[in-house]
Amino acid sequence: METGLLHIHSVLRWVIFFLLIVSIVKAYSGWMNKKVFGPSDRKVWLFTLIFSHLTFLVGLYLLFLGRFGVLNTTLPEGTSVMKDKFFRFWWVEHPFMMLIAILLVTLGYGMAKKPVPDSTKFKKAFWFFLIAFILVIAAIPWPFRDVVARPWFPGLH
Ligand code: HEM
Repeated sequence: METGLLHIHSVLRWVIFFLLIVSIVKAYSGWMNKKVFGPSDRKVWLFTLIFSHLTFLVGLYLLFLGRFGVLNTTLPEGTSVMKDKFFRFWWVEHPFMMLIAILLVTLGYGMAKKPVPDSTKFKKAFWFFLIAFILVIAAIPWPFRDVVARPWFPGLH
């Protein structure tokens, strides 16, 4: 089950990646072209919210009970989390940056429901989604990264 969850978590990265791009583009175009906020905007933002929350839940499981989970890993003698690049990334940097990104996605989606002018909805959501996107890109263990590299797709090495 654990491997399956890791694979799901890995694939969800691409779903979030593309949904965030569409959300950002739609928010920007709505803001710049003074569009009326419509159901298609709400739908894309909602999907972005749902998939990022799903990824978060799977991530929580991996963080605590995965193969390097906090609850079933004993750090090697003399190692501390913050001094070890591998564990610092998986236990601190990745979860923390992704958590902030997901909070920003939640705030971005929240703009859909706020009783504010449409231009404000688009503008604020644009910034929330853009910063979330930058954080997600920065915290993904891309294959070209040092120490924490993972494949582009599950099973691809
Ligand atoms: C937008 C949110 C997130 C994205 C895009 C994302 C992306 C990824 C990717 C691409 C991997 C590597 C998968 C592989 O080995 O093929 C990974 C692993 C992992 N993620 Fe996330 N993640 C997100 C959120 C989170 C959160 C919020 C947590 C913790 C609360 C988390 C915990 C983990 C852990 C512990 C692993 C490593 C598991 C293992 O190697 O056994 N992730 N994540």
